[in-house]
Amino acid sequence: MRFGHFDDRKREYVITQPNTPLPWINYLGCESYFGLISNTAGGYSFYRDARLRRLTRYRYNNAPFDFGGRYLYLRDNDTGKFWSPSWQPTRTKLDKYECRHGMGYTLIGSSCHQIEAQTCYFVPMGETLEIWKFQVTNRRKKPARLSVFSSIEFCLWDAQDDATNFQRNFSTGQVEIVDGVIYHKTEYRERRNHFAYFACSEKLAGFDTQRDTFLGAYRSWDNPAAVEQGKSFDSVAHGWAPLGSHHVKVNLKPGETKEIIFVLGYHENPVDKKFDPPDSQTINKKTVQPVIAKYLDCQNVAAAFQTLRENWDGLLGVYQVQSPDVHANRMVNIWNAYQCMATFNMSRSASFYESGIGRGLGFRDSNQDLLGFVQMVPARARERILDIAATQLKSGGAFHQYQPLTKRGNNDIGSGFNDDPHWLILGVAAYLKETGDWSILDEPVQFENEPGSEQPLYEHLRCSFNYTLERIGPHGLPLIGRADWNDCLNLNCFSDTPGQSFQTTTNKDGTTAESVFIAGLFVMAGKELAAIAKRRRQNTEAERCLAETAKMEKVIYRHGWDGDWFIRAYDDFSKPIGSKVCKEGKIFIESQGMCIMAGIGLKDGKAKLALDSVNQHLATKHGIVLQQPAFTKYYIEMGEISSYPPGYKENAGIFCHNNPWIIISETMVGNGNRAFDYYTRINPSARENIGELHRCEPYVFAQMIAGRDAPTHGEAKNSWLTGTAAWTYFTITQWILGIRTDYDGLRVDPVIPAKWKGFTVTRRFRGNTYAIEVKNPKGKQRGVKKLLVNGKEIAGNLLPVRPPQSKPIQVEAVLEG
Ligand code: BGC
Ligand code: NOJ
Repeated sequence: MRFGHFDDRKREYVITQPNTPLPWINYLGCESYFGLISNTAGGYSFYRDARLRRLTRYRYNNAPFDFGGRYLYLRDNDTGKFWSPSWQPTRTKLDKYECRHGMGYTLIGSSCHQIEAQTCYFVPMGETLEIWKFQVTNRRKKPARLSVFSSIEFCLWDAQDDATNFQRNFSTGQVEIVDGVIYHKTEYRERRNHFAYFACSEKLAGFDTQRDTFLGAYRSWDNPAAVEQGKSFDSVAHGWAPLGSHHVKVNLKPGETKEIIFVLGYHENPVDKKFDPPDSQTINKKTVQPVIAKYLDCQNVAAAFQTLRENWDGLLGVYQVQSPDVHANRMVNIWNAYQCMATFNMSRSASFYESGIGRGLGFRDSNQDLLGFVQMVPARARERILDIAATQLKSGGAFHQYQPLTKRGNNDIGSGFNDDPHWLILGVAAYLKETGDWSILDEPVQFENEPGSEQPLYEHLRCSFNYTLERIGPHGLPLIGRADWNDCLNLNCFSDTPGQSFQTTTNKDGTTAESVFIAGLFVMAGKELAAIAKRRRQNTEAERCLAETAKMEKVIYRHGWDGDWFIRAYDDFSKPIGSKVCKEGKIFIESQGMCIMAGIGLKDGKAKLALDSVNQHLATKHGIVLQQPAFTKYYIEMGEISSYPPGYKENAGIFCHNNPWIIISETMVGNGNRAFDYYTRINPSARENIGELHRCEPYVFAQMIAGRDAPTHGEAKNSWLTGTAAWTYFTITQWILGIRTDYDGLRVDPVIPAKWKGFTVTRRFRGNTYAIEVKNPKGKQRGVKKLLVNGKEIAGNLLPVRPPQSKPIQVEAVLEG
C-alpha cells in the first residue's frame, strides 16, 4: 500500500493522505537556520543548534505522534466553522489534501468547504528565517468572508531547560508587538542578544502572544478560543508560554485568490546595539526591519524560492545517473543526495526520533557523513573536517561528540570509543579524492580546542593511526574501549544499574576486550594514510603504515578468522564474540564488511567465503541483519546490544548503515548481481509499495528495519539521520555504478547486475564535467576493458585530472568481463 507517489520531474514526494503511518517529514534550511516539517505542518525550528537556539517549542513522544508546529487556521466567518488547511491540529475532514516535500521546501495544499488553500514553507538561501507563503482561493459561487489565524509556540531557547525548568520559565517570557510583528525576546534583557520575530504581510485584525489566552482554559490546539470566536484577544505575554498568532480577515469574491506571507525568523544584534533607545529595554529593530520588509514582499519571496531551486539544481547536478533502475535513479539523483545534506547539517541531533536535545555532532558520524556530502559543497566539508579535528584529544582519541554552536567537545559523553580517530582519516581521504586540495593537510588545527596546541591536520591523522598502535590487546588486536562503531557492544561496561548509560559506564579496566572491527578499520585507514603520505613524499611514513597494517592483517588471520567468517570481538574474559563457539551472536555483519573493504581475504577466497556466510545467515528479504542468532537475554558482559528485544536495533535488527559495507564488499569480489540486490532491499523507494509495513518515509533511508526475529520484521524506524544516507550514496555512486573519486583522478569501475545493458552518468569533478556512458553488451557484472575519452582509447580505468574545459568530456566504457 502507498500513501503517495514520487514526482521525479519536480523532485518532490507527493503525500496524498495526511494520516501517514508515521510523520513523513522534510527539512527546511540547509545553512544555519533549520526546521523540521511534517506532512501536516508539524515540527519546529532552530538556529544552528537544535538544543541551545530553539525557536519554536515541540513536545516529544506525543499522541498523535506529530503534534505542534506551524499551524494555520481558516474560519468561515458566516458559519463559524473552522479547520486546519494542513489537517492538523483540527483534523477536520478535508475534501482534497496533498503534501509535496521538495528540495528544501514543503507545499501543503487542501480544500475544505470549497475554500482552497496552499502553503509553501521554505528558508531562503543566506537568511535566518522561514517563509510561509499562504494562498487561499474561494471556489464557491458566492463571496466568502474568512479569517486566517497563524500560530506558533515560542521555545525559550534552550530546549532542555524549556522542557524542565518551569519554576523559572513560567516567569521569564517576554514579547513586543510592533507594527503587527511579534517579537519574542525572552532573556534578551540579560545575556542574550538574539530574538525571534513572527511577521505577517497583511493588516492584522488582531493578535495573540499568550498561549493560554489564545487557546482558553482547558482547551487545546484543535479548538483555540480565539479561532472559535473569530477574534483574537490581543494578549501580551508576561511569563507563562509566549506564542505568536496573527489574525487576518480575508473577503474573497468567487474565484478570487489572496496571498499572505508569514515570516518567522531569528536575529542577532551587536551587544552594544541591543536596545533602541540605548538606555531602554526595547529591542533595537532597525537591524532587522529591512529583512522583514524584504520578505513580506511577494516578488522577493518568489525570487528567493527560485534561488533555492537553482541552488539544488547545482548541488544535485554534480552526479546524475540514468540506469535501468528507477529506484536507484531517483535515490541517486534526488533523495539520497538530499538526505546527505540533512545528515551533514544535523548529524544525529534533530529529527522525529532524535530530540535535538541530547546529541550534538558525532565525531565518527560526521566524518562518515562526509562520504556522501563532500561532492556537494567541498568548502563546507573542509570547514567541518577542521572543526572535527580540533576536538581530537592529544592522545589521538576524540571527543565522541561536539556542540555545533561552540564547536567544543562534549564532556558529558567524553571519549574512549576506540574506532573514532580512524574515521577522521577516511573523511579527509574522501575530501582529498574529491577535491585534490592537499593544502588542507597543512592547516594548523588545535587539539582539544586548546589555543596554542595547533599542529598541521596531517599530524592529526598520524595521531589517529598511532592511537590504535598504543592500545593493543592480548591477541594483538585493537582494544575496543567504550565501544567501537557499534555503540551497543559495551564490553567494558558490565552495568547492573537501571538507567546507567551503556555508552559512558565503564566498570572494567579496558585492557582485555578487543575489536576485530577496529582491526579492519585500522587496516583500511592505514592504507589510506600510506597513500596520502606517499603523495606527500613521506615514503618512510608510508612504509611504516603499510608495515603496521600488514602486521595487523596477520593478526586478523590468526585471531580474527573463524573458519567461514571473521570473528567480531573478544570480550573481557578474552572469549570470542561472533564465532561458531558462541551460543548466540555467532556471526556479525560489521567485521565481515570492514575486513573485506580493507582488502583482507580478497586474494585467498576468504572474502567470498565470509560473504557467502553473510548471505546464508544474515540476509533477509528486507535487508541484512546485524548478527545471528539474536540475543534472547541480557548479557552483562555484552552491554546494550543485548538490552534490545531480538530483531530491533543492534540486536539483530537490519541496521541499514552497515549493509553498504557488505554491498561494497560484494562489488570488490565482482558480484554485481548480489550487490545490487542487497542495495534494492533497503532502498526506500523500492519499498514504497509495502508502505503499511515499512511505515517510514519512502524517500529517505531509515537507520533500522526490524530484523527477522522481530514480530514486525520489515518495519523501518529512525528515518533521516543515519549514517545509512552517506554510505548508501557512496556505495551506489562509487562502487556499484563505480564512478569513483581517487587521489589522482576519477575511476570508472562499475560492478552492476549482469542484466543491465548499460547506463550513463554525468559527473562534475575538479572543474570538469564527465559525460560517461557504460556499455554492457555481453551481460557482464564487472571489468572495464576499454575506456574511450573524447573518442581516444586510454589504458586502465582511471580518468586523469585535466585542466577545466568548457565542454563535457565524453567517456565511453565497455564492460568485457
Ligand atoms: C543506540 C545506538 C546509538 C547510541 C548512542 C543507543 O541506544 O542503540 O544506535 O548509537 O544509543 O546514542
Ligand atoms: C548510531 C550512532 O549514531 C552511530 O555512531 C553508531 O555507529 C550506530 N548507532 C551503531 O551503534
